[in-house]
Amino acid sequence: MPLEFTRYPEAEQLARSRRFLEEMGRRRTVRHFSSEPLPYELVENAVATAGTGPSGAHQQPWTFVVVADPEVKRRIREAAEEEERRSYESRMPNEWLEALRPLGTDWRKPHIEDAPYLIVVFEQAYGVRPDGTKVKHYYVRESVGIAVGLLLASLHRAGVATLVHTPSPMGFLREILGRPENERPYVLIPVGYPAQDCSVPDLERKSIDDILVRR
Ligand SMILES: Cc1cc2nc3c(=O)[nH]c(=O)nc-3n(C[C@H](O)[C@H](O)[C@H](O)COP(=O)(O)O)c2cc1C
Repeated sequence: MPLEFTRYPEAEQLARSRRFLEEMGRRRTVRHFSSEPLPYELVENAVATAGTGPSGAHQQPWTFVVVADPEVKRRIREAAEEEERRSYESRMPNEWLEALRPLGTDWRKPHIEDAPYLIVVFEQAYGVRPDGTKVKHYYVRESVGIAVGLLLASLHRAGVATLVHTPSPMGFLREILGRPENERPYVLIPVGYPAQDCSVPDLERKSIDDILVRR
């Protein structure tokens, strides 16, 4: 079928590109959420945007579980804190703890219950045909990572805060959410508005010269 493609005049291209860069430059990871509700459609649209992502062999190897039920959030928080407590207390090597120190994080994860929504992203390690046989999936991690980037951009653009959270190991998410065996937890994303007194670590991003190589 013919491609639908919008070609903008150069000045408009540059303006759009700069505006997007400036907007994305203001995205910050939020770790203190208010429980103020937000329109569900913002979450659904973000998931739909994630679903527009490219994927290896167009296999779309992702599932997004949106959790709003306080009891399910409570169980996820409890299990995440248990894993995180063990990680912070004995499983993480010193080097890892040092790397996390500037972020000021610890095993406590109240944001899992405070945020009005959790988006739990699963990668589908393989597909399953209706007759139960397996379909090999290609470039699963890469595909899901790109989709999550689009999801974060959509929520940020709508003025909603997010946290990419990886309470390792995350096997409990599959059990609590009753997901099938071919799905592995990828990340857990609390979504909502920042708490009134929310602060963030004073981080610097690498400059363009640090990350871009021209040849
Ligand atoms: C794959 C991945 C895993 C992360 N896991 C955690 C996490 O478990 N807990 C946490 O507080 N932040 C987590 N983060 C957030 C990062 O710490 C954060 O993106 C980084 O410090 C930069 O801050 P910024 O997002 O505000 O630019 C994770 C980010 C990514 C991309």
